[in-house]
Amino acid sequence: MKIAIIGVGYVGLVSGACFAELGADVYCVDVDERKIAQLREGVMPIYEARLQPMVKRNVEASRLHFETDLSLVLPLVEIVFIAVGTPPDQDGSADLSHVLEVARTIGKSMDSYKLIVCKSTVPVGTSRKVKAAIREELDKRGFGDVEFDVASNPEFLKEGNAVEDFMKPDRVVVGVESDRAKELLTYLYKPMQLNNFRVLFMDIPSAEMTKYAANAMLATRISFMNDIANLCEYVGADVNMVRRGIGSDSRIGSKFLYPGCGYGGSCFPKDVKALIQTARDNGYEMRVLNAVEDVNARQKKLLFEKFDRYYNHDVKGRKVAIWGLSFKPGTDDMREATSLVLIQQLLEAGCEVSVYDPIAMDEAKRRIGDKVRYANDLYDAVIDADALFHVTEWKEFRMPSWEVVKRSMNNPLLIDGRNVYDLPDSFGFTYMGIGI
Ligand SMILES: NC(=O)c1ccc[n+]([C@@H]2O[C@H](COP(=O)([O-])OP(=O)(O)OC[C@H]3O[C@@H](n4cnc5c(N)ncnc54)[C@H](O)[C@@H]3O)[C@@H](O)[C@H]2O)c1
Repeated sequence: MKIAIIGVGYVGLVSGACFAELGADVYCVDVDERKIAQLREGVMPIYEARLQPMVKRNVEASRLHFETDLSLVLPLVEIVFIAVGTPPDQDGSADLSHVLEVARTIGKSMDSYKLIVCKSTVPVGTSRKVKAAIREELDKRGFGDVEFDVASNPEFLKEGNAVEDFMKPDRVVVGVESDRAKELLTYLYKPMQLNNFRVLFMDIPSAEMTKYAANAMLATRISFMNDIANLCEYVGADVNMVRRGIGSDSRIGSKFLYPGCGYGGSCFPKDVKALIQTARDNGYEMRVLNAVEDVNARQKKLLFEKFDRYYNHDVKGRKVAIWGLSFKPGTDDMREATSLVLIQQLLEAGCEVSVYDPIAMDEAKRRIGDKVRYANDLYDAVIDADALFHVTEWKEFRMPSWEVVKRSMNNPLLIDGRNVYDLPDSFGFTYMGIGI
């Protein structure tokens, strides 16, 4: 089967490589010529475990191709996946300009049947807009009788575990409105069906909504636990105990109940905002999600507040260290990362900031420039520090030599935004977690 994937970002590149691994002939297309040139040289634009060897293997087998001109690729394929970004617009709604631009480009050069599948996260009604944009361009060219279908196939992969998630998903959600589209997508996902996972076919609006509802639910669990954690601090309860206590209830389950310093990334923040805006556009207010957002924004500022309170608001000129910059472990993605909020607060307060992340240092340099010191490793970061912030729970931060860390710091204050550490008093650190 020959397919095109438009947009070679986290979703597009992983999907393309995985479909190729399953035997499809995949053409990945992006307008970013530099990115495509790099990929042709074997250079990955993102960090994602297992991705590079998979890309290499499939390029060498001539099943994975990288292109910049969609019009040249279109005649070669049956299915076109749209996987371009849908960043938040000024009012929080999803910016569909990239998606619709791709739709128009397809309409400008399509001359035989294609199935256009939206993999980007898009609000209900977008597939209809994609269809209308393609139809308009076909009509302009006098190709109004060319048939095509649209479908929705939202992606649920997690950065940091993207290849595994794509290959062994809990479920694949597919919204279709024709038997032909259903047949093509059933065939495409057949190899994965052998592994016994489910493909859930539904109507297109329900598929589009499922993606937002899933992310909104997960974000809600995180903000709910953060709210509980904050209350635990007031009343003298330990949220780690509470988490275990409620997570063992099979109706609740243990996932996404970890309190911390807020969720970030390219999906939860923007998808929650977009769902709130979709509701507003329809005259409805998502009260729960408004609160989810509020709690999250407050949570991202909590680490600085703990530090500021500890030093009685006398933090100007203090040296601090940050371990972890990416929005979560396993990725170099810093979109909406808590580290960015913390760094801004610290710099505004006149602190000197040293940072270390195993993977996201280049991305941090691109975003923050020379406003912070980039340490060579986790021990280098803490030299002379008045506080150490643990922001991203990378594995290599789990068991550092606390003796060395303490000896290097000016004052052993450890502010743990991920509640990972359980240091005995004998280590001599002042420890602050979230909700404990
Ligand atoms: N990142 C994730 O973990 C994740 C998970 C599930 C769903 N999603 C959704 O998938 C979509 C893509 O997200 P991402 O993180 O992969 O985005 P990204 O920003 O990493 O990549 C998007 C790519 O699209 C390209 N592009 C933009 N306009 C184009 C055009 N007209 N033609 C060709 N290429 C174009 C960009 O150059 C870029 O390389 C979004 O809607 C996102 O919400 C993301």
